[in-house]
Amino acid sequence: MRSDPHARPGRTTTPATAAEPLPWHSRRLTAAAGAVTAVVLAAGATLLSAAGPANAATSLGSLAAAQGGRYFGTALTQSNLSNSALTAVANAQFNMVTPGNEMKWDTTEPSNGSYNFGPGDQIVSYAQAHGMKVRGHNLVWQSQLPSWVSSLPSTQVQAAMEAHITTEVTHYKGEVYSWDVVNEPFNGDGSYVSDAFYNAMGVGYIADALRTAHAADPNAKLYLNDYNIEGENAKSNAMYSLAQSLLSQGVPLNGIGFESHFILGQVPSDMQANMQRFASLGLDVAVTELDDRITLPATSANLQQQATDFANVVKDCLGVTRCVGVSQWGVGDADSWVPGTFSGQGAATMFDQNYQPKPAYTAVVNALGGTSVTPPPTTPPSSAPPSSAPPSSAPPTSGAAGTCSVSDVVSAWNTGLTEQITVKNTGTSTINGWKLTFTLASGQTITNAWNATISPSSGSVSAANLSYNGTIAPGATTSFGFQANHTGNTAAPTNFALNGASCTSG
Ligand code: XIL
Repeated sequence: MRSDPHARPGRTTTPATAAEPLPWHSRRLTAAAGAVTAVVLAAGATLLSAAGPANAATSLGSLAAAQGGRYFGTALTQSNLSNSALTAVANAQFNMVTPGNEMKWDTTEPSNGSYNFGPGDQIVSYAQAHGMKVRGHNLVWQSQLPSWVSSLPSTQVQAAMEAHITTEVTHYKGEVYSWDVVNEPFNGDGSYVSDAFYNAMGVGYIADALRTAHAADPNAKLYLNDYNIEGENAKSNAMYSLAQSLLSQGVPLNGIGFESHFILGQVPSDMQANMQRFASLGLDVAVTELDDRITLPATSANLQQQATDFANVVKDCLGVTRCVGVSQWGVGDADSWVPGTFSGQGAATMFDQNYQPKPAYTAVVNALGGTSVTPPPTTPPSSAPPSSAPPSSAPPTSGAAGTCSVSDVVSAWNTGLTEQITVKNTGTSTINGWKLTFTLASGQTITNAWNATISPSSGSVSAANLSYNGTIAPGATTSFGFQANHTGNTAAPTNFALNGASCTSG
């Protein structure tokens, strides 16, 4: 859609851009009802609490939590909440949410003094229902800023900014872990962006914004957030000088967000050292919007490089004691902002178009100290009918005319695992109401599930749809998942059958 003005070759450059508003507005009108009830408890499960998700110990989030109490987050938009394949992965993997657009000024105060917190509230409710915390994003930014602000006489900008911050931060008081108070204040050369705030108040707008936010919610961690500051360069040097100056004035600044919108192969080699110099000032640091874009179509070599890139970023964070967490910008390639923003590029996240984990996911699990088992592809050779080579423990499938196929991904660690199961309607009529039966490997006991009701918790089990995901159109898929304890056997389930008819793998 547009070229990247900052792009230049070189290993330590990390061009990205986010400066201009994009036509996302239509998306916030999409209803997201229902999905907030996605977590269902199976036999023996405990309720989710604000202290952590019931899937703690399995996921990116829980692996990060085991690394000094860090988090692993994602961005969610309102429309994402009604996508069950997306939410299945979000619920299973992440324990922090950043609203993709819903807390930005053009949504929250579209006209002067008239506030709209409905979209942001939906994201917060969703996060709370799933034991995730929230990074508030963002209060002051030149982009996605309604024109009434930039049209104000400069004498009125400060009051408008302070009113906006006070009202929004008060609305979410106690409900957000942190705020990106000022977003993207710098140009690539380290000069300040000449937006309405800078033009009206000079650099003092940043201290004023931080003080105003602190007065409204003294417990929220207050951040400055920017892109292309991941390595040492003119822009990160400018951010460093600003941070030093603010701290020396006693301004309530708690952290720096490193957006980390990377181009494949261009994670700066000095990212850890650069984050460490900010941490050494007494600040938290966080990777706030991680993605790693590839020129499409992505090759398998690209995906391996991406795995290296993601793992390096996670290791860089783990190497800095005050790096509190990593957030990916989006859940999977299908909902990523990249293809709509950077023409010809995409495949920038850890999950593919169908929300299946990519090599980057496995690399991140490993970097976080977990183990991930992704079964090899189970699609039979095209020359053989599906029924010719069933797994030895499975009965023959119902043959080529079957109405379902099932793919599954196990992520295991020493005593537990999570399983993501995707069911496809391969028949020609719509399925209204489904029950998927399967056999759990011996020693596996389900402790909780999402997007399905599962019982009993071991042996031959049934997973039934919930109210919002019972319909599967021909060719469509639905996903659910569960967490289980195991005693050493991390094998995937077998004998999948949908409403009594055996399913093929794939
Ligand atoms: C992006 C959203 O993902 C898009 O949906 C929207 O159209 C534009 O903004 N830096 C930021 C984020 O701080 O708020 C941006 O999010 C991505 C770049």
